[in-house]
Amino acid sequence: MPDIAFVNDVFLPLSEARVSVEDHGFQFGDGVYELIRVYAGRPFHLTEHLDRLEQSARAVAISVPYTRERWTALVAEAVSRSRYPEAKVYIQLTRGAAPRDHVLASPVLPTVVLTVRALVPPDPVLYARGVDVVTVPDIRWAWCNVKSVSLLANVLAKQQAREKGAFEALFVRDGQVLEGATSNVAVVRDRVLITPPEGPLLLSGVTRKVVLTVAQQAGVAVKEEPLTEADLSTADEVLLTGTTIEVLPVARVDGRPIGAGAPGPVTRLVMDCFRRALA
Ligand code: PDD
Repeated sequence: MPDIAFVNDVFLPLSEARVSVEDHGFQFGDGVYELIRVYAGRPFHLTEHLDRLEQSARAVAISVPYTRERWTALVAEAVSRSRYPEAKVYIQLTRGAAPRDHVLASPVLPTVVLTVRALVPPDPVLYARGVDVVTVPDIRWAWCNVKSVSLLANVLAKQQAREKGAFEALFVRDGQVLEGATSNVAVVRDRVLITPPEGPLLLSGVTRKVVLTVAQQAGVAVKEEPLTEADLSTADEVLLTGTTIEVLPVARVDGRPIGAGAPGPVTRLVMDCFRRALA
């Protein structure tokens, strides 16, 4: 089945897709993006992803060239052309291509790139055993709620995690645990699910929101409150949420076991509820 790309109004095989080397996304990391999961051919919470794409673009003054209807039709067409029932759709919107200068000399059209690839889910063993995470200083900028393609700090953090044999790196800023390099984080204490509140220092994850909803529906109390490093290390359970990982239990933080060092009961309940919400 084909990996599909759509670049500036044209569908083509991913291997043939090209953008200019002068694109501001390539030159400056000047762009925003979304990653959308497709389950059984249906994009998951597409509206929320398109809302966030528009918010990100607005925050950095990149014009959004398509209407909602056009984006929705485009995603549907891309998924159907790919014929992958389980897929990930990546949308990238950059300021456009122009001779390299931080400021555009004259207006250009933004560059739209959309790709569809098969989704290879994480190894089931990770869900059964839980993963290792490490904490890292948050060296990112102050607009982490913008889903920007400028991901150097995230790339370095994730790399650092891998070098230590961990799955994810959690950003800590001024003693606050904010989120992972590619995920949101939550802890469970006394059967209450606690995750840091939305704000400029973390991305408002689509999965995070779904998890808060399904947890509440399952009778789990939820709180959106700041988390300290101590809250993390003394939590009964820790879990990550994100588009590709869904709900992933954490077994160890910086090498120290969380709870029994295995997925806890609230995390398992939330994992079950999340999966049922997909059906
Ligand atoms: N990232 N926080 C960060 C920094 C992220 O990069 C992501 C997701 C999330 C979770 O958001 P959501 O539930 O909407 O996927 C939180 C995507 C998957 C990525 O960068 O590929």
